[in-house]
This record gives sequence, structure tokens and C-alpha cells, in this order.
Amino acid sequence: MTTTEGLEDVVVSHSQICDLDGKLGKLSYFGIDIHDLARYSTFEETAYLLWHGVLPTRSQLEDVNAQLRANRALPGPASELMRLLPRTSTPMDVLRTTVSALSSFDPDAGDNSREANLRRSIHLTACMPTIVAGWDRLRSGKEPVAPLADGNHATNFLYMLTGEMPDAYNAHVLDVALILHADHELNASTFAARVTAATLADMYAAITSAIGTLSGPLHGGANEQVMRMLLKIGEVDKASAYIQGALDRHERIMGFGHRVYKTEDPRATHLRQMSSELGERTGDSRWYEMSHIIEEYIKEHKGLNANVDFYSASVYYMMGIPIDLDTPIFACSRISGWTAHVLEQYGNNRLIRPRAEYVGPKNVPYVPVEQRG
Ligand code: COA
Repeated sequence: MTTTEGLEDVVVSHSQICDLDGKLGKLSYFGIDIHDLARYSTFEETAYLLWHGVLPTRSQLEDVNAQLRANRALPGPASELMRLLPRTSTPMDVLRTTVSALSSFDPDAGDNSREANLRRSIHLTACMPTIVAGWDRLRSGKEPVAPLADGNHATNFLYMLTGEMPDAYNAHVLDVALILHADHELNASTFAARVTAATLADMYAAITSAIGTLSGPLHGGANEQVMRMLLKIGEVDKASAYIQGALDRHERIMGFGHRVYKTEDPRATHLRQMSSELGERTGDSRWYEMSHIIEEYIKEHKGLNANVDFYSASVYYMMGIPIDLDTPIFACSRISGWTAHVLEQYGNNRLIRPRAEYVGPKNVPYVPVEQRG
């Protein structure tokens, strides 16, 4: 048996969904380049692509848009459950708990057909923003805003956060960010979803595993930590000294490094651009400028590139989104990829059960409790 810590470069299954070339910095969903999707697609169309393997026709797109809109509201008891949680609960904890509870209100419970799981994929994708935005309002003592009956996914999310129709540019930025985060091969949370699905546990169990896995700072939680770091630095001309100090203390700089990419993360290209544009639009380029200095510094001194989490932090911040919603927004996008992978796993399932190389003690005699020192 060979042991590979962290499963680095271990290929555990075939998949048609996401092609990721870390050396060339290329990413595509079902063969369509991420740059084209970011420029020309919408989150809804990209989600359809992930679920079905092809772009929708116009009528299929209208249909999936309508289904997503129709599934935005939460079942009443799930909304009530959120009200019972302590206001100090993190948005990721609330998202994980509420998504887990949704299984109790599933009209197709017990049906593991592809059709039922596609309906679940749409339902989860449609209503996760309702949970996140609703929790942000509840914890601030406000009533949740009912979802829009129309408007796209990104517009609806921003509307539910504030109760006001968002700026069209901000809605566009969020739409692109949702496309960029939608899938990323066997990242830790998607792998967790597939491991759970491979036991033939239901989709809610798989997605609950994935949300828990995404919350960690080495995965989706990195974007929040990036923004906290930028706020701590505070001023553009303090950025280099702060980073040098952090490197001297052997700290990990969040938003840098990647298990697969050894070059520019293609998603960061778009987020960097949007961070720059938002700086110009808001008249405060500080967060973009600071980020750019840090990026150049880390590249020069550590040879590490910015990943998807680095520029998404300043992008969301400049849109006025609370910092601890960064990772839940990541989840609201990645749900499309998670569900696509769960569908693929169920379609050709084998239990995922690796081995560990035992390095503990052997042949230890059992000593009765009275005789233990
Ligand atoms: N800051 C400083 N050093 C870093 C680093 C970072 N963000 N990421 C990696 N390194 C260094 C490690 O210290 C290590 O150096 P060493 O060999 O001298 O000990 C080397 O690069 C390899 O790191 P390792 O942790 O083994 O890589 P990994 O593939 O296991 O981890 C990440 C990948 C993403 C977990 C890691 O790069 C990281 O922790 N990044 C910060 C968190 C983050 O942004 N996560 C979001 C990923 S999209």
C-alpha cells in the first residue's frame, strides 16, 4: 500500500463534470471554458449545464429559471426552526442545520430516482440564499424579506438581504461570482458530498456534509479570513510590512496557495478585475490596491498565487455584504456543483472506502482497570 497524505494527486473516480488543469490554469465545466461561462453565461444556465451536461435550449432555460423562482421559499417549519437558533450562531452553522432539516419536508422522501434528485437539486439551489439572507436579517432583529417572484438568482439574493432592489452592476458581479464558484472537481466539500452519497444516504445528508466541510478556513472559510486581514492592515502603505511580518511568523496567508493550481487560478482573474472595478465605482480603491500589493508580494517572496478566495473577499465587502456571509455565498453557488456530483455519484455508485496505513502500537496486552497505574 502507498500512502499519500491529504490524497494529493490521487485520482479516486471518473467524472465528466469539471476539467481542472492546475499546470495550465485551465478550468471548464462539461468542456466549456470558465472564461466563456463568466463572460457570457448566467448562474442559472451554468447550474443547468452542471446538472444536465449540456447548455439549455431557450425553453429549457426558461423552464429552469421558473423552477428556481418557484422553489425560493422555505417550508414554513424550516423558517420557524431558524428562529429558534441563538442569534450568535454563525451563518454557516445555520445553513448546515436548516439544509439538514429540509429532508423532513421533502415530498419525495425515500425516492432516490434521478428525477427526484434533480428536483432536490433545484430546490436546494433555489432556497439556500433564502436561508442565508433570512438569517442575516433575523440575527439583526429584522424580519426576513420574502423572495422575489421574478428576477434572477443573484438579484433575488441581494434583494432578500436588504429589502431593496440591488444596483444592476452589483447583481451582475454576484452572478459572475456564482458562476466562478459553481464547481471545482473533487475539492474537499464535493468529495465529502460524494463520500456521503456513495453510502446511498440521501442528497440532504450529502449536502449537509459538504456545507460542514466548506466552512473550514483551509477551504471556503478562507475568504472571510482574507477580509479580516485586509481590515486589520487598514491602509495600503502598511500592506507589505504586514505580510512580511506574517511570513516571518510562519503564518499562512489566507487566499493564497492551492492544492491543484500551480499557476494563476482562472477564477481569480475575473474576481481581481471586478475588485478593481468596484473600487472605482465606490470611489474607494483601498481594498483592491491593498490586495494587489499583497498578491505581488506573496508571488515574489513565496511563489504562491492568489486563489478564488482572495479577491472575492474585497468584491463582496465593497458590495456591502457582511463578511461572515462570504462563505455561505460560496455555498449558495457550490450547491449547483455539489448536487451535480451527487447525481453523478448515484448514477454510477461504488462505496468510497479508502485505507489508512496503521502506524500505532501492536500486540498490546489488555490490562484490567484495577491493575492500571
Ligand atoms: N501562506 C503561506 N504559506 C503557504 C500557503 C499560504 N497560504 N499555502 C501554502 N503555503 C506553503 C506551506 O507552508 C508549505 O510550505 P513548506 O513546504 O515550506 O512547509 C507549502 O506552501 C505547501 O503547503 P501545503 O499546506 O502542504 O499545501 P496543501 O496543498 O496541503 O494546501 C491549501 C493547500 C489551499 C490548504 C494551502 O495553500 C492553504 O492553507 N492556503 C490558505 C487557505 C486558503 O486560501 N484556502 C482556500 C483554497 S481555494
